[in-house]
Amino acid sequence: MTASPWHSGEPGSAVRVSVPPPSPRPPARLADGLAFGGDYNPEQWPREVWDEDVKLMREAGVNLVSLGVFAWGTVETAAGVRDWSWLDDIVELLHQGGIGIGLATPTAAPPSWLLAAHPEIAPVLADGFREPPGGRLAWCAASPVFRRYALRHVEALAERYGRHPAVRLWHIGNEFGGGNARCYCDLSAEAFRDWLRDRHGGLDAVNAAWGTQQWGHRFGAWEEILPPRGRHGAPNPGLYLDYERFSSDALLSQYLAEKAVVERHSAAPVTTNLMVGAGAQVVDYATWAPHTAIAANDHYTLVDDPLREQDLAFAADRMRGLFPDRRPWLLMESSTGSPSWQRRNRAKDPGEIARHSLGHVARGSDGAMFFQWRASPAGAEQFHSAMLPHSGSRSRVWREVLELGRSLKALREVQGTRVERARAAIVVDDPAGWALQHGLKPHRSLSYGRELREWHRALWQRNLLCDVVPPSADFDGYDLVMVPTLLTVAEPVAARLRAVPERGGTLLVTYLSGVCDADGRVITGGFPGAFREVLGAWTDEFYPLQEHETVALDDGGTVTEWTERVHLEDAESIVGYASGTLAGAPAVTRRPVGDGAAWYVSAHLPPDSIDRIADRLTAETGLVPAAEADPGVEAVRRVGDGSSFLFLLNHTDADRNAEASGLDLLTGEAFDPIVTIPANGVRVLRETPV
Ligand code: GAL
Repeated sequence: MTASPWHSGEPGSAVRVSVPPPSPRPPARLADGLAFGGDYNPEQWPREVWDEDVKLMREAGVNLVSLGVFAWGTVETAAGVRDWSWLDDIVELLHQGGIGIGLATPTAAPPSWLLAAHPEIAPVLADGFREPPGGRLAWCAASPVFRRYALRHVEALAERYGRHPAVRLWHIGNEFGGGNARCYCDLSAEAFRDWLRDRHGGLDAVNAAWGTQQWGHRFGAWEEILPPRGRHGAPNPGLYLDYERFSSDALLSQYLAEKAVVERHSAAPVTTNLMVGAGAQVVDYATWAPHTAIAANDHYTLVDDPLREQDLAFAADRMRGLFPDRRPWLLMESSTGSPSWQRRNRAKDPGEIARHSLGHVARGSDGAMFFQWRASPAGAEQFHSAMLPHSGSRSRVWREVLELGRSLKALREVQGTRVERARAAIVVDDPAGWALQHGLKPHRSLSYGRELREWHRALWQRNLLCDVVPPSADFDGYDLVMVPTLLTVAEPVAARLRAVPERGGTLLVTYLSGVCDADGRVITGGFPGAFREVLGAWTDEFYPLQEHETVALDDGGTVTEWTERVHLEDAESIVGYASGTLAGAPAVTRRPVGDGAAWYVSAHLPPDSIDRIADRLTAETGLVPAAEADPGVEAVRRVGDGSSFLFLLNHTDADRNAEASGLDLLTGEAFDPIVTIPANGVRVLRETPV
């Protein structure tokens, strides 16, 4: 008998993956004023440098650092042998310097001795290849051995520092899923089966949900159910989707286990850094965020993205949408220059550090933090930018960091305020994105993130604020709800979306939305099953376009990627196909519903067609921009009790104007009724109450 490549060789049963409901907490305040700082890895430097670090942090106004994120092996140098001396010293030094600590449980990077003694804790890929040591997140979430070692160390850490006054926050692990999003080993399979029992009840229900009659794959015993392994073939979509959900929950259960240990020793708030951006993420963040005291995000702009400020805005709008009360969140990591993981890592242009950081603050972050404080001379990330670059305090980056510190201090009164209530929302769902991008589909290279960003872009360029919300959101407060390519949707969510036009709002649904239920089963009777009645239009045939194929629209636009044959019931055609097989058929439809409307977009529209629709939607719904401003100026407002702060970010190389009045908190200048925002600059006006 040959040994299975997925066999873990671990004694004991798999970790049981179950996620209890979150206990709601009030929003956490981490610092006195907006948080400013970054990951601090003093263990990479001799002791003498630490004094200089603290001195320079004070000079820059740093008030929070993420400490010890990867310091498991530097403290626990052999099983159960812990050298706390250096950590004790730096905690004290930071405390004396008045700098708050986000203390990390360092479980993202297990020590080399642990991986050597227990290579079986490493994740196994779908094809049976076990990840070798040398990276990060080198563990399987179902491994009882990893769980035991990790919690032991977390307990020791929390016992030692849990009540230390400098510890303002707990930073659990690091970017969960960033290297171990899925593990396919036998222990994971065992944990998956338990998770399925909780989700579906019996085996019959699993078979029914997944439609296992196809290919005669009916499961007669739980042991027959395996993770979607192998490189070839096409896993059952229901099984695939449930494995993705399970994997997210498996990582979440590790987070929750560490959090529970920490909370036995400490009253400080607990969070972890997410990687929220456009598109389907590695874990389902909507289920993670409610378990954090403050949602924290890592966001890096991509050098080759011409609309990187919009990507930033999308991520920030999505962070705000994670909590129903749109409470402030925290930008935990970003970069002062380029990261080292892109293909060509270019420095940021002058002014970008502040403009990007304040772009996050404008959209609800209560601070701006970076990876990392001081650049590492050695190790994998030696060419990554930092607040204090390799060239030290004589660098332009350092001067801009000092300036950002001053700006954040000047914006102190913004802390705790909320971004103005958005009247538009875009619905985003990680599982729907996973389903869209995987398996045998009518088009196998659609990008969920691109679809989401294109509709968001149209609102962003008009300064129409938009929350990016999960399906669990309350849609009642929004005049416009957009649903781009939401392939899978649970019926209760679909019902709440259908109610939007019925209560006078506008619902816009784009192609491939509502085609499948939450188990990934097609809703029969004509696409999109979940929405066809409210849309008054339906589709029976898809015509995805070949790579270089285009189709003309009668509004002058040119479609790529996706078209479909739409039949009207009681909707009207707003834009039609003008060439190809579908010439003369509707491409975009609208159905008036009382005072509201339901739109269907059956094609992957070009930006100019989206813009025309956005103009019409704006007029119909009466959405108003945060400020009237020249093109290239982003305007967002945060409001508190009796206070109002207008952020104006000029993303162009020339001075630009906006219609606004108030006092610029960054420079002390007063403006009325026109404000000039310098090229690549930012103004934050405390607006005069009317
Ligand atoms: C993040 C990670 C950091 C650092 C950074 C570099 O994803 O959390 O530890 O590696 O990327 O950009």
